[in-house]
Amino acid sequence: MNPIMYRQSVRKFTDEDVSPQLIENLLRAAMQAPSACNQQAWEFIVIGDEEDKLAISKMHKFAKPAAEASKLIVVLGNLKRAKIESMIEQDLAACCENILLQATYYSAGAVWLGFHPIEDRCNKIREYLNIPDYCIPFAVICVGYSEVDREIQIRYDVSKIHYDRY
Ligand SMILES: Cc1cc2nc3c(=O)[nH]c(=O)nc-3n(C[C@H](O)[C@H](O)[C@H](O)COP(=O)(O)O)c2cc1C
Repeated sequence: MNPIMYRQSVRKFTDEDVSPQLIENLLRAAMQAPSACNQQAWEFIVIGDEEDKLAISKMHKFAKPAAEASKLIVVLGNLKRAKIESMIEQDLAACCENILLQATYYSAGAVWLGFHPIEDRCNKIREYLNIPDYCIPFAVICVGYSEVDREIQIRYDVSKIHYDRY
């Protein structure tokens, strides 16, 4: 199974908990991501408390999966660790994708909830989790086991490919 082709967003989760080992494996994958100047300016908050998950699920319209997930991984960018601040979003996006792919590899389900750069979302999670102002609350990855099986959509589209010139 190729996790790149089989990954899909999971928003409905069973009651089964993911193990601390799985979370560690996801974080290991996260920290293997490429980063500008190898700056590795990421940090993570792992959340399993029901009340916290519920609060995060209400932080924006598309955050509902957080309530049902077994664990949440809040992906942060620590600007104090950054060498090239302007590239940090790209590093963190690679980091999030690594988590999603590793979850797929372990037959778990995950979805990326967007926070940064939407100010209102960032303010809410920053305040709730006491995130310092030198850290960007980039995204929340919900992790659990999928309740439903969805068919994979192949998105390969030759009309989007240009050779040599646009
Ligand atoms: C930057 C970004 C932000 C996203 N934010 C949300 C979100 O807030 N809530 C959500 O349910 N899905 C979110 N997603 C997941 C996308 O909706 C999903 O990847 C897209 O619909 C394609 O579906 P697939 O992941 O199943 O292939 C986000 C994905 C990205 C890359």
